Amino acid sequence: MAISPFRSDILKGKVAFITGGGSGINFGVAKALAAHGADIAMMGRREEVLQQACQELAKLGVRTFYKSGDVRNAEACKAALDETVNALGKLDILVNGAAGNFLCPPEELSPNGFKTVVDIDLNGTFNMCRYGFQYLKASKGLIINISATLHYVGTPFQAHVSAAKAGVDALTINLAAEWGPEGIRVNGIAPGPIGDTEGMKRLAPGDSGEKMKKEIPLGRFGETAEIGLTAVFLASSAASYITGETIVVDGGAWLSKPPMVPRALVEQMMAKSKG
Ligand code: HXC
Repeated sequence: MAISPFRSDILKGKVAFITGGGSGINFGVAKALAAHGADIAMMGRREEVLQQACQELAKLGVRTFYKSGDVRNAEACKAALDETVNALGKLDILVNGAAGNFLCPPEELSPNGFKTVVDIDLNGTFNMCRYGFQYLKASKGLIINISATLHYVGTPFQAHVSAAKAGVDALTINLAAEWGPEGIRVNGIAPGPIGDTEGMKRLAPGDSGEKMKKEIPLGRFGETAEIGLTAVFLASSAASYITGETIVVDGGAWLSKPPMVPRALVEQMMAKSKG
């Protein structure tokens, strides 16, 4: 488990709102922000998951609030934010983590399947930013959009998610430029393969995860706590001059390719050329 290098009270007095915060990477973010003092609000579709997550966070001594709802529903987003500010007093940190994913070749994907993922990942992020703006303007707060690295290359069976996350990255840059003058910073985190998450269950079924691990330069899957600590960094004063940036946290996964030929063959060729 990644150990925090930060003081445990650096986010004390801050209120964070996390979509999809009840599970997976987003719960890792919620735990990390709470462990550094932030009160936590969350929204998701499954009330019992939110309730359980908030019970666990409350043990860290922070205030919590949850509201079930779907980020595709703009009115639900607005209501959840309004009620959070009523309950916890303000909004400082908005984390857009809610996402949907499944593997599907584009020629098999229904238009509604494509639309569903874009609606959750991209439109959901916009909805939250749109209705969070007034509160973040008041607090000089910040946004963290959870993205991905899938769209940096062509990733098979992920056309829908790649298109959605490319849109999220565009929003991060655009809102950073437009809302910087209001004192709002907008950044992103692009996680790679993170162990023990719904995403990895969907993207690396069976034993495909073991093969994937061998191709990651750092040789392992990441931990949700590592994404959480990146969020703590972005929310801290250490990042006070950083905006419009999406930080990749993937152990080097996206930028590395498997070797073109086996190492043994390269060594053989080198030995031959030496003489
Ligand atoms: C093809 C599929 C499909 C599949 C759904 N659809 N699953 N198409 N293959 N496996 C199609 C349906 O047929 C339908 O189109 C449309 O998508 C909507 O499906 P519903 O089931 O009605 O939608 P809904 O109940 O709203 O569920 C949304 C969902 C679901 C995204 C489809 O999987 C979900 O709720 N996921 C949430 C959790 C999740 O995915 N977490 C992982 C995020 S990981 P038709 O045409 O039939 O009506 C992540 C990591 C990214 O984002 C990068 C990591 C490296």
